[in-house]
Amino acid sequence: AVMVGRTVRRRSGWRRVLRVLEELEEGCATPVGRLRQVVDAMAVEMHAGLASEGGSKLKMLLTFIHNLPTGNEKGIYYALDLGGTNFRVLRVKLGGERSSITELDVDRKPIPQHLMTSTTEELFDFIATSLKDFVEKEENVPEPSQGERRELGFTFSFPFKQISSSSGTLIKWTKGFSIEDMVGRDVSQCLQEAMSRKGLDMRVTALINDTVGTLALGHYHDEDTVAAVIIGTGTNACYLERADAIIKCQGLLTTSGSMVVNMEWGNFWSSHLPRTSYDVDLDADSPNPNDQGFEKMISGMYLGDIVRRVILRMSLESDVFGLISSKLHVPFILRTPMIAAMHEDDSPNLEEVGRILQDTLEISEVPLNVRKLVVKVCDVVTCRAARLAAAGIVGILKKIGRDGSGGITNAKSKGGGSMKMKRTVVAVEGGLYTNYTMFREYLNEAMVQILGDDVASHVIIKATEDGSGIGASLLAASHSASSSSTSS
Ligand code: GLC
Repeated sequence: AVMVGRTVRRRSGWRRVLRVLEELEEGCATPVGRLRQVVDAMAVEMHAGLASEGGSKLKMLLTFIHNLPTGNEKGIYYALDLGGTNFRVLRVKLGGERSSITELDVDRKPIPQHLMTSTTEELFDFIATSLKDFVEKEENVPEPSQGERRELGFTFSFPFKQISSSSGTLIKWTKGFSIEDMVGRDVSQCLQEAMSRKGLDMRVTALINDTVGTLALGHYHDEDTVAAVIIGTGTNACYLERADAIIKCQGLLTTSGSMVVNMEWGNFWSSHLPRTSYDVDLDADSPNPNDQGFEKMISGMYLGDIVRRVILRMSLESDVFGLISSKLHVPFILRTPMIAAMHEDDSPNLEEVGRILQDTLEISEVPLNVRKLVVKVCDVVTCRAARLAAAGIVGILKKIGRDGSGGITNAKSKGGGSMKMKRTVVAVEGGLYTNYTMFREYLNEAMVQILGDDVASHVIIKATEDGSGIGASLLAASHSASSSSTSS
């Protein structure tokens, strides 16, 4: 009788778990019709954000970068990269010919956790000290000659407001950073001040967002690159916009030419986004509630935590995971690389899934069908993220008339054959796209579904490598005091 009772309980537990899974799948569903609504909403919000300051949740930040690197950049430049999981300093040699870039030296370290929530001075002293150590251990690098200074591109991957390409004031923090006294302050100035406190003489010639560095690097290698997307710890995009389309700064800018616009799409929101109770809870528990809604559904900082919340719910509702592990209550304990590893576990017994559940969540002896369930949860959450990112990209293409919907159908041939459309390249960077095969495949697949085969064949999603480092050095060069290519 005891055995029977137990079996019955387990069975009903399993039924409840499947119900949770079903609800998750329904809540995360992204049929192509819905993705098209997201595409349209993205394009509409882009217009609104360009029309007036505060006109949309999309900030559409001006960068004052009018010209992307051409390939002629020459010399030795430094780059600082702050904003993801790691902090980096680089010294890069640009050879003056396309693709002759040499990374001479790189220093990478994790950002000490406490600095992410400390004070401006502490954070920037840490940066300036790292930079100074880096410069001091250089060998065979000639000291800059009289009147010259080492020049630096600073990639600061947060939203900031610019009135020139070499400075900008912080609008708000994202991705778990929170240093209140920094908001509203000039980022380059904070760095310059810290450098003089440490006795280091360098000049910030370009202050850029990581998406802008990626666009610069993408464009350096391929001139058809019109937009760049980051899908890493956070997610964001920038693109090249016509100056006359940037209504909110008419008068400030000449209406000819173009400018890179940092969208800050992480903050995009639309009622068409498939939102679940897990998203609502994650947002409420975050340091920035009601903020960065799109980012919280897509980027690496959050995916693992959505999965954790689903598993917690399943284990609260049933006993298929055994006793409820206290680890399941720890925010961010499941990192996105673990989600990728579980999702892509191709061993017959899902050994990797078992190992991660054991080591990280302290859930042991998980039977195969429950492991499969965990893989399914990863799949649902990742699939939604990748498809939404794809919709965002198509939204940009639509805004700039490269989605095949207007003006390019001039060559619609008799047989309905291929249309004439300009080759369009989107540079993509970040761990999710680069290191997570399933994510990449879902994103690419959704692009084709939304655009259709013909149009999609003209759109190339290209993974670039280290736009936030090398791209910054390229922009430091093209905006250098000694360069002639700074005019717009
Ligand atoms: C966050 C930041 C944004 C950055 C992105 C990717 O969304 O707000 O500026 O580009 O993360 O790092």
